[in-house]
Amino acid sequence: MDSILVKGNGPLNGVIPIAGAKNACLTLMPATLLSEEPLTLTNAPRLSDIRTMTQLLQSLGVEVSALQAGKVITMSSHSDINPVADYEIVRKMRASNLVLGPLLARLGHAVVSLPGGCAIGARPMDIHIDALAALGAEIDLRDGYLHATAKGGLKGAVHEMRFASVGATENFVMAATLAKGTSVLKNAAREPEIVDLVACLRRMGAEIEGEGTPTITIQGVDRLRGATHPVVTDRIELGTYMLAPAICGGEVECLGGRIDLLSAFCEKLDAAGISVTETANGLKVARKNGRVRAVDVVTEPFPGFPTDLQAQMMALLCTAEGTSVLEEKIFENRFMHAPELMRMGAKIEVQGGHATVHGVEKLRGAPVMATDLRASVSLILAGLAAEGETLVSRVYHLDRGYERVEEKLRACGAQIERVAGH
Ligand code: UD1
Repeated sequence: MDSILVKGNGPLNGVIPIAGAKNACLTLMPATLLSEEPLTLTNAPRLSDIRTMTQLLQSLGVEVSALQAGKVITMSSHSDINPVADYEIVRKMRASNLVLGPLLARLGHAVVSLPGGCAIGARPMDIHIDALAALGAEIDLRDGYLHATAKGGLKGAVHEMRFASVGATENFVMAATLAKGTSVLKNAAREPEIVDLVACLRRMGAEIEGEGTPTITIQGVDRLRGATHPVVTDRIELGTYMLAPAICGGEVECLGGRIDLLSAFCEKLDAAGISVTETANGLKVARKNGRVRAVDVVTEPFPGFPTDLQAQMMALLCTAEGTSVLEEKIFENRFMHAPELMRMGAKIEVQGGHATVHGVEKLRGAPVMATDLRASVSLILAGLAAEGETLVSRVYHLDRGYERVEEKLRACGAQIERVAGH
């Protein structure tokens, strides 16, 4: 298993290109099941999660081909589709559950393994099940698999979700594109990845309104056609690299960055003393004079502060002046990076869904362990600003969500390298 070795060595300066969004691509890919004609995605990120989704789609009978080293993905679901999403693939990645809605819409039945828990929480499927049941699906759980059937096809309906789940919104919207009649989803999630999914579905001929608001209306159509769609910028990768000069000093331009993708995050950076300016090609980030100031952060569904940037923000606040409180409202167990940061000298107390961070002058390098995708990159960020060497082990998590992380940071002057086999 590879590790990443980081040596703290002062300010970072340069330009970092931001890839297409992993989480958008993971819902755009299953959308191919809705049409017999090919769907091509451009600006796709090159990540192990995308390879897992490719394997899953191939196991369902979808032909998948990649060009430009994976940046362009073409999928074709013209032949017979197999309705069973096997545990062996689904267990690797929860986003596999995003084939449920499209399979049900295309075939009238689907058998999809329950994903199981993951390090950051139990992550149940009840909101997905209720949403698809509202469209007329009957769903039973047998042998660890969800068996979903819609006799006579899905039918449009009005449904309000108990919580604005991102994945359940995506499953509902995809399923409703081919349902008979009109569907209305209330308390829908508003994330940019959902807006991107709807843009793609519209290119495929779907009739949808209200994406990016809490009410999405879908007028079912008989069939969808092929399309070519560029994947939206990855706002989480963007926020992560924006934090690099915030933590280390210097000035970094993130190509493809947009403030509207991260407004709550940008407000917190401003309050912490980090300047973010729009340029012709993206966003330029620099630390204003002096030490970073403590800020309180609450993670919430979009447009709130993203849970997927909480660990990285904590890395910044470890060396801020004053005490910050981070409240995690999306996942019940998402502070596993705190004890690792404490190994580097951070002062953090975790109590339930709150972490209190007392800023220290400097972190010190240490061997640490990545527990999940975003935690792993927070440890790299902390290592970049720490005195001495930090060895982050278990970086396979990192490869799920960040392409060429070492290269991108090295281009800005960071001392970072991958060490094989630790
Ligand atoms: C997506 C993102 C993930 C991000 C999360 C929240 C993808 C592939 N992943 O995950 O990176 O951290 O949004 O922004 O897009 N829940 C239930 N029952 C359900 C569904 C969800 O209780 O049926 C709970 C979850 O356990 C969690 C919360 O709702 O506590 C949010 O989950 P959800 O919005 O569904 O996240 P995902 O779509 O899984």
